Amino acid sequence: MLFLVSLLPLLGLSLAAPSPQDPGYNCQPGQQCWPTPLEWQALNTSLSGALFLTHPLGEPCYPSTRLTDPETCSLAEAASSNNTSRGAHYGQTYWGNWEACGTSGCGLQSSDPSKLLYSSCSLGRLGSYYIDVRNASHISTALLFAKKHNIRISIKNTGHDFFGRSSVPNALAIWTHNLASLSYQANFTASNCPAADSEHVGEMGAGVTAGDAYRFFNAHGMDVTGGYEESVGIAGGFGMGGGVGDFTTLYGLMVDNAVEFEVVTADGLVRVINECNDPDLFWAMRGGGGGAFAVLTKYRVQLHPMLPIHTYNFVASFEGNTTETLRQVLTAHAENQLAWSEHLVTGGVD
Ligand SMILES: *[C@@H]1O[C@H](CO)[C@@H](O)[C@H](O)[C@H]1NC(C)=O
Ligand SMILES: *[C@@H]1O[C@H](CO)[C@@H](O)[C@H](O)[C@H]1NC(C)=O
Ligand SMILES: *[C@@H]1O[C@H](CO)[C@@H](O)[C@H](O)[C@H]1NC(C)=O
Ligand SMILES: *[C@@H]1O[C@H](CO)[C@@H](O)[C@H](O)[C@H]1NC(C)=O
Ligand SMILES: *[C@@H]1O[C@H](CO)[C@@H](O)[C@H](O)[C@H]1NC(C)=O
Ligand SMILES: *[C@@H]1O[C@H](CO)[C@@H](O)[C@H](O)[C@H]1NC(C)=O
Repeated sequence: MLFLVSLLPLLGLSLAAPSPQDPGYNCQPGQQCWPTPLEWQALNTSLSGALFLTHPLGEPCYPSTRLTDPETCSLAEAASSNNTSRGAHYGQTYWGNWEACGTSGCGLQSSDPSKLLYSSCSLGRLGSYYIDVRNASHISTALLFAKKHNIRISIKNTGHDFFGRSSVPNALAIWTHNLASLSYQANFTASNCPAADSEHVGEMGAGVTAGDAYRFFNAHGMDVTGGYEESVGIAGGFGMGGGVGDFTTLYGLMVDNAVEFEVVTADGLVRVINECNDPDLFWAMRGGGGGAFAVLTKYRVQLHPMLPIHTYNFVASFEGNTTETLRQVLTAHAENQLAWSEHLVTGGVD
């Protein structure tokens, strides 16, 4: 009886027809609600040609596709195993399972990209169409189109998301990877918020990768609180979810260093948010994850004067009974760590 009572509200929820407040955003290709080719074409025109049909990265290597072509296939194989070039394609994720839907997908094997993962090529979990976004107004246009046609959207930068949140099947994807502008302001004036004015602020487009940010800000004598892997989207992904890295013990998480964001909210409005303007949204986007509350277009972050950092990597292999040797190695590391830290030496033992 208890079971029935608790089940009924659940059933009620799942059977309820979508209401105007919750339209479901579940229109799929092939259904009557799906936009006609002319409507997609009109969207493309209003986006100055930035709308594309999704082609998975591995597609040119699948014999069944009309794009089969040894040259583009070898380019796809090379891109597939190089994180930086892989991130420059909408039609992939870094964790192959998020590209696939059950047993369908179009991936190449990560250990050997000359081998196919599936017997035929399909979109898997990748969106149907994607917009190669070049400015905030493209995002507003995408959101209003998706709302009008009841289509799900997804937001993707490089595709590193460990939980696959950047790939949504049957979606219109907002791909922010090419919002790659970078600038440095020695004296930064926040938007209507004197409390957030600061020296040494970096501005990054949502698609900037960590490696590009490090090189750009280092050239201005500044460090940004990033992570380890260079091809990760530092603003639109890493810096929305928290952002732990080498500087965390010194300067806090990346979100602790956020000064101001430019975002597009679901109503299509472009907003500049900081501790004074839309403070709740600003708070939510510093840890709530990329895309949960609004689409980020620009990230303004507190930089720090560059520190010299020394790293080491101790690699050794021991044979036989290693217990005593390992104990000595680890003890020496532990005993010296404080002195090394004082000289900004960091590293690890493999
Ligand atoms: C956004 O870019 C398009 C070109 O793709 C251009 O026509 C449009 O004016 C731009 N909008 C803004 C607000 O910069
Ligand atoms: C949108 O227009 C561009 C430029 O003309 C074209 O390359 C692209 O294929 C078009 N997208 C779609 C979905 O037709
Ligand atoms: C490439 O990206 C994957 C997924 O994020 C990561 O596990 C791997 O360490 C990266 N490779 C290199 C060489 O950094
Ligand atoms: C990976 O690709 C990037 C950009 O395409 C290139 O600059 C880099 O040299 C490549 N790395 C390797 C290890 O081939
Ligand atoms: C910022 O402006 C103030 C006032 O003009 C100046 O004293 C200060 O040196 C500037 N800061 C930087 C980092 O340039
Ligand atoms: C390995 O060496 C440790 C310490 O030297 C000793 O306690 C242990 O019994 C040895 N183990 C084996 C399997 O010989």
